[in-house]
Amino acid sequence: MHEHLTVVKHPLVQHKLTLMRDKDTSTAVFRQLLREISQLLAYEITTKLEMTTRRIETPLCEMDAPVLAGKKLALISILRAGNGLLDGVLELIPSARVGFVGLYRDEETLQPVQYYFKVPQELEDRLVIVVDPMLATGNSSAAAVDLLKQAGANNIRFMCLLAAPEGVARMAEAHPDVPIVTASVDECLNEHGYIVPGLGDAGDRMFGTK
Ligand code: URA
Repeated sequence: MHEHLTVVKHPLVQHKLTLMRDKDTSTAVFRQLLREISQLLAYEITTKLEMTTRRIETPLCEMDAPVLAGKKLALISILRAGNGLLDGVLELIPSARVGFVGLYRDEETLQPVQYYFKVPQELEDRLVIVVDPMLATGNSSAAAVDLLKQAGANNIRFMCLLAAPEGVARMAEAHPDVPIVTASVDECLNEHGYIVPGLGDAGDRMFGTK
């Protein structure tokens, strides 16, 4: 499917995901659960960050203590639903730089078109984590990663809450170098492009629209 696909099976993640899928879960609870899951997914996606050491003094002695190496990482939210994942990840990694990619689907060509693109400088020196809750067709995710690569990013990871097999396959074809971390790969997409069983429209559920 995808060489670098990680499905986080942790009981807390799966329990929270079930609550989020439930159509009777309120907007407030959905948002809170998304924040909590995003931190657990962020824990997984950052397991192999490069480390170095820094000389510090504890109250007892000096030591070479582990710290993250390199430039601050960049979190890139795909608008608008990406922002729901972004908040939680930023709580865990408060010094991260943040960028936004806005894409809409052209109704004639059905291809994603960029309407907003603002990302941190020196992307080529940063780990770039793209966040978008739903990896459905994968078209907008693949297009967003294209744009980030054009902007210099060369170390990209993709974090989503739910994925469809179609989206995972699309990303594997377009960007086999981009590892994906998700809480579930669901059954399929329906004829409207929704993930089944899924959780509905993630943006609407987190922002209370529709
Ligand atoms: N986007 C959503 O918000 N939900 C889906 O099921 C697919 C794409």
